[in-house]
Amino acid sequence: MQTDQITLEAKTYIRELFRGNADGHGFDHSLRVWRNAMMIAESEVCDPQIVSLAALLHDADDHKLFATENNANARRFLEAHDIPAETADRICTAINSVSFSRNKGKRPETAEGRIVQDADRLDALGAVGIARTFAYGGSHGRPPEDSIAHFHEKLLLLKDMMNTEKAKEIAAERHAFMENFLREWHMETGRE
Ligand code: NI
Repeated sequence: MQTDQITLEAKTYIRELFRGNADGHGFDHSLRVWRNAMMIAESEVCDPQIVSLAALLHDADDHKLFATENNANARRFLEAHDIPAETADRICTAINSVSFSRNKGKRPETAEGRIVQDADRLDALGAVGIARTFAYGGSHGRPPEDSIAHFHEKLLLLKDMMNTEKAKEIAAERHAFMENFLREWHMETGRE
């Protein structure tokens, strides 16, 4: 099967998988991470097919959403599409190196893992990052002020955690946009 066709089918697969889940860690997030990852991959030495599928499937076995083991959801898709076992392993290695909790903050060992990790972190920055932060806070009954604290505790630290040059560039732009937003927020509310 052609790479483009597999990408298309992977999108259909995750749309089904995340159906009915609106907490921001679903289908739209995965598509944005894929988009970021493909942008970064252009300037890195890597296997673009592994980057593409690892990005699309990176949350397919997220333990907050699914009770699967050994990347069962990702592997089910890869097996059904005759991806060779060795390639499937490399995809799952990349996926597993993205999660902060699972790899205890270590830098991913493969180029594909570093790219997808950057792509995932970029989705917490910029306009998308702002929207996601308030949506998440709101869905947990938190006032906007609490979300503002999250910017300082976590989101503003992300730009210095990127692995690749391309992601550092994009992160710097999105970081500046968030700082502008925070300046405006503090000006309008008179609060620090
Ligand atoms: Ni993610």
